[in-house]
Amino acid sequence: MYTDKIEVEGFEHGYERRAEDPRLETHGNATFTHSTGKILSSPRLRLRSICQWMSFTMRRNNDIGQSQGVFWQNARDTRKRNWNLENLQVEDLLGRGSFGEVFQVKAKDDGSEAAIKRIKKNVLNTEKDLSRVKAEFSCWRAMSGHPNVISLFAFVETDTYWCFIMERGNFGSLSQVLRSSDVMLGSQDVRKIAAQLAHAISTLHHAGYLHRDISCSNVLLTENLDCRLIDFGLSVKGTTATSRSGSLAYMAPEVLNRRPAGCAADWWSWGIVVYTMIVGKSPLALFAIREQIDLENISKESRYELAKKTPVVLSTRTSPEERALLVDVLRPDPESRLGMRDGMNFDLLKAHPYFHGVDWTQLDAAKRKILRRIEIRAKRT
Ligand SMILES: Nc1ncnc2c1ncn2[C@@H]1O[C@H](COP(=O)(O)OP(=O)(O)O)[C@@H](O)[C@H]1O
Ligand SMILES: [Mg+2]
Repeated sequence: MYTDKIEVEGFEHGYERRAEDPRLETHGNATFTHSTGKILSSPRLRLRSICQWMSFTMRRNNDIGQSQGVFWQNARDTRKRNWNLENLQVEDLLGRGSFGEVFQVKAKDDGSEAAIKRIKKNVLNTEKDLSRVKAEFSCWRAMSGHPNVISLFAFVETDTYWCFIMERGNFGSLSQVLRSSDVMLGSQDVRKIAAQLAHAISTLHHAGYLHRDISCSNVLLTENLDCRLIDFGLSVKGTTATSRSGSLAYMAPEVLNRRPAGCAADWWSWGIVVYTMIVGKSPLALFAIREQIDLENISKESRYELAKKTPVVLSTRTSPEERALLVDVLRPDPESRLGMRDGMNFDLLKAHPYFHGVDWTQLDAAKRKILRRIEIRAKRT
């Protein structure tokens, strides 16, 4: 994996954690020792066995610690479940991003299943980390109730982690589905996922937030191939941001060029998600293949330069509606992108020929509810 997914000023610890297990120490000659001092492998052990052992150890490192209390619990969860960490059995690792690790959990009392995202506290940078986690919580909470956003059940803190307890996505992320050979997304599936994701993004923007990390890894799918947006870790309240953030392949030109970026950058990323579903790979991945460049083995700056030069190529195999949609959203000028025009009028996107026949009624009702709730909350404060 190349490792420059996120770049947010003052918050850079994400990637180091990928290969780090506090109980693991590495010594020269590939000898690994556990903190107990037990030697686990000899210098002659083959690299593959070491990797297997490391991944086994990391998978088992699912200790979350003692809960300092459930700070917030979703009032709309009518089952009033007990999300205290002491009541949760932590099971398999579901995924790992640049900030958090997500595990499957099961409630000991009633067997409820959920997922927990744990974010390690960074002792050196507590203020910044705290405000980032607060922003993630605030945006996620604001969006809860949208059918295409993963439900947040509770927010818990321990000595070493912040934990988000949420609905478990049991079909994997869109990027996992696209990589797997078991599931083939048909054009109707792609259209449905594109519509649902667009609706979630539009709701988020109208609620006053930017997501800033729309990508195939941050979209989960259900068995029915409905989409659920996750990961509000880079979300901010407001309409513009200047730091370069997101996943490289999905970054809008203005983000890559460090210009102020707003809602239009999310729409660009959405366009790349739709492109990737239709074509099978992102424009950056295709360009790297064409130029015979291994993205994992070039410097970070070279990757950014390559991303800036990447053309959006539309093959003749895409349908006229698909082409029209992609051309309309992947426009270099942010203000003219689909989703942005006419004061971010979402009706223009809904009326696009590509979405002909999509029923938006239920989603629109959820959006109205969310916006009303935010309005009421704003009046109260
Ligand atoms: N509710 C969930 N159910 C199943 N898998 C999940 C869930 N939430 C996240 N994941 C998996 O974990 C990965 C990392 O989670 P994410 O919230 O994106 O963390 P980060 O902020 O570190 O990127 C995701 O890409 C996805 O594969
Ligand atoms: Mg993520």
